Amino acid sequence: MSRWPGDEVIGFSSRDADIRNFSDVQELVEQNRPDWIVLTAAYTDVDACESNRELAVAVNVDGALNVGKAAQGVGARLMFLSSDYVFDGTKSTPYKTDDARNAQSVYGKTKAEAEIRLLELNPEFCILRTSWLFGNGGRCFPDTILRLAASRGALDVVNDQRGCPTHAEDLAGTIIRLCRENASGVVHATNAGDCTWFEFATRIVAMAGMTAEVCPVSSEQMARPAPRPAYSVLSPESLHLYGMRMPSWQDALERYIQQRSSRN
Ligand SMILES: NC(=O)c1ccc[n+]([C@@H]2O[C@H](COP(=O)([O-])OP(=O)(O)OC[C@H]3O[C@@H](n4cnc5c(N)ncnc54)[C@H](OP(=O)(O)O)[C@@H]3O)[C@@H](O)[C@H]2O)c1
Repeated sequence: MSRWPGDEVIGFSSRDADIRNFSDVQELVEQNRPDWIVLTAAYTDVDACESNRELAVAVNVDGALNVGKAAQGVGARLMFLSSDYVFDGTKSTPYKTDDARNAQSVYGKTKAEAEIRLLELNPEFCILRTSWLFGNGGRCFPDTILRLAASRGALDVVNDQRGCPTHAEDLAGTIIRLCRENASGVVHATNAGDCTWFEFATRIVAMAGMTAEVCPVSSEQMARPAPRPAYSVLSPESLHLYGMRMPSWQDALERYIQQRSSRN
């Protein structure tokens, strides 16, 4: 919020309202009557979603619709944070905003369903797809890699999933600008460039000046409950239409590592 000057910004957490409860959401929205609602809340544990389908639908689809309906009620615009996991990963060139959704995981299916239902409710709502988020202030992939690299001589990291790492700080700046532009429809926003998780981890360890060996493995070797797309690079074309470009993921990672080391 400190990064969003010039506007009155109020942050709400699950303690203020459970988005599964329409009347609580409606009350909160009516009390505050915002111009914009940025909906980041979601059930994001991709693997746990596979065995908790009902909860995933309740939060990610019904909850998102509750917020959309409450937004409609006060004439607010809505920005819904969505995911590269709405795609099946069979392409080998960046996914455009109008490419067909074909999610493979329960999590991805709930995000895709929410996108469709929200746009049916109001085509002026903005669906902001992003991917592979990392940032200071919580657990994330670079944090995990740096902690493991400090305690192990070698790390296995998958090398057959390609996507776009994205610094939450850069995404936040993009969200602010898109709200100010009254963005609508589907927009893709990630740091520029792409890599595999193995390439990302290799760069993380090197940038931090650590010596742990990063070893490439396949998704099959690191089997997880939820399938991940093999390729989920999001095209930045939709963002360019708003005259915006995001920095490279390497630049973003360098800032993250500097911030993390000054914090520690
Ligand atoms: N992380 C990624 O790589 C990634 C990639 C693409 C898109 N996204 C999307 O970006 C958004 C933010 O992701 P994130 O990784 O920052 O998520 P996160 O750290 O898991 O945070 C999700 C938030 O949603 C809240 N929440 C969960 N259930 C709720 C409910 N029923 N009512 C109200 N709040 C609820 C959680 O509150 P509590 O902690 O109190 O439960 C938590 O603060 C999500 O919409 C996600 O789908 C994330």
